[in-house]
Amino acid sequence: MTKITFVQPDGASQTVEAREGDSIMQTALAYSIDGIFAECGGAMMCATCHCYIDDDRTGEASETELDMLDCAEDEVRPSSRLSCQIKVTEALDGLVVHLPVPEE
Ligand code: FES
Repeated sequence: MTKITFVQPDGASQTVEAREGDSIMQTALAYSIDGIFAECGGAMMCATCHCYIDDDRTGEASETELDMLDCAEDEVRPSSRLSCQIKVTEALDGLVVHLPVPEE
């Protein structure tokens, strides 16, 4: 099992055991993490799985992912990622995922 920590904008955090092969988005949904909606189910067509990850282990976002991030409703930062595009592996143990500030 791989431990992933989700951090809310107010600093509240939750560390969960993620299943390898699932995406970060699927992990967030499995644990009802606030801030990840995943309206398209992981098809890279909604950007409602937007999060911030500042960790080289997740690699670079693809061009398609970057294009979709332009559609994100929340602030896009250099660390912005679509959580549906990152697969959980053992190598990501201890990963920290920050959630965007919810729209008002
Ligand atoms: S779940 Fe829709 S883009 Fe990730």
